[in-house]
Amino acid sequence: MSNTLQAIRGMNDILPEQTPVWQFVEDTLRAVLAAYGYREIRMPVVEKTELFKRSIGEVTDIVEKEMYTFTDRNGDSLTLRPEGTASCVRACIQHGLINNQVQRLWYTGPMFRHERPQKGRYRQFYQVGVEVFGLEGPDIDAELLIMTARLWKRLGLRDLVLQLNSLGTVEARAAFKGALVEYLQAHFEQLDADSQRRLETNPLRILDSKNPDVQALLGDAPRLSDYIDEDSKAHFDALLALLDAAGVDYEINPRLVRGLDYYGRTVFEWVTDQLGAQGTVCAGGRYDALVDYLGGKATPAVGFAMGLERLIALLENQQAVFPDSAPHLYLVAMGDTAQREGLLMAERLRDALPWLRIQTHCGGGSFKSQFKKADRSGARYALVIGEDEVARGEAGIKPLRDRGEQQSVAFTDLAGYFAETLSDNTTRRVSDGR
Ligand code: HAM
Repeated sequence: MSNTLQAIRGMNDILPEQTPVWQFVEDTLRAVLAAYGYREIRMPVVEKTELFKRSIGEVTDIVEKEMYTFTDRNGDSLTLRPEGTASCVRACIQHGLINNQVQRLWYTGPMFRHERPQKGRYRQFYQVGVEVFGLEGPDIDAELLIMTARLWKRLGLRDLVLQLNSLGTVEARAAFKGALVEYLQAHFEQLDADSQRRLETNPLRILDSKNPDVQALLGDAPRLSDYIDEDSKAHFDALLALLDAAGVDYEINPRLVRGLDYYGRTVFEWVTDQLGAQGTVCAGGRYDALVDYLGGKATPAVGFAMGLERLIALLENQQAVFPDSAPHLYLVAMGDTAQREGLLMAERLRDALPWLRIQTHCGGGSFKSQFKKADRSGARYALVIGEDEVARGEAGIKPLRDRGEQQSVAFTDLAGYFAETLSDNTTRRVSDGR
């Protein structure tokens, strides 16, 4: 067995071949969020363990089994953030961002959960999260969903289904929970071990069970929708009307409860059947009680987070198109004089055309080996200079992607030539894999 060090299981390197797609997703997200007036906030990756216990809930899977928790040198219990909502609320309270103010915020970065790694499920994964504070009406819930629908369109993604539910107020949910527990206790023997355990700890999560027998049993169980208070119902109906008006399709899923304790009223997930078991790409909802619970002034709040690995896997699946970041030109130069002239010429071209991507060959070598590297770089053209070209004041331009003869263009005309023949918005398919 080799003793070279490897990355930790479930924590991935994102290699240079993959980063252009990541940048495309991140740039598109940033542009869409800016178009709706959302501002970025950056929080630390490590927080006090207590923050997550209090906000996500002591008996959730995340807090019970999945957190990377350690004691630091001062003896404090700290945790690598498993999600961003708790930190965002903490930061907003700490810096007085939500005293009678509306905030529309977003963040991005790695999150950490000690789950069993599989396709689409990692121990370090990236989220873009969005949180809105200070608005309680259904209009902001609708804005978030309309904005995500626009994002899918901008990314070129298809076949994402929006599932929606309302959990009602904390009181309504408690009444429903009581009725559900009573029903399931009467059928305790028919539950699987996991659901039996959940009946003690977090009974609502039994609704999420993938076991068909448990699902069959739930067919006759009390329904959350029968316990929802009138205000929550009106809120949900108004949200549906806004989505209808905006042409955003949805499915109501009465079993959708979400795995974190802080939600109330609207909850939603964008799901796909194209990623196997890990089909939830984006998820969130209202958490109107959390700010108060964490010590801030009671403030309504709603948000969501999306998993970037899953978004990117879906882009690959659907062969979406994204901007090509390969160099436009690869400069091939033979001999010391040509090498020096080439370097200066590349600088002049970058001055004239700031969007142009030129990779200059360094390290010498034969024309043949330089052309091989030019080809591998993905460049559209090789720009060729030898001693003869320098003497004539001309460069050779050889197409690398299409058929076509090599042409000669005077050094002084090169910028004009490329301004006409190239542009900064060429695209390629995600699955082209270079
Ligand atoms: P969540 O449902 O735990 O919600 O995660 C949101 C998204 O992050 C998931 O839908 C999925 O795309 C991605 N994700 C979660 N765990 C993993 C994993 N182990 N590997 C890869 N991707 C993963 C939250 O985190 C809430 N903070 C969302 C929110 C914001 N609610 C209100 N505001």
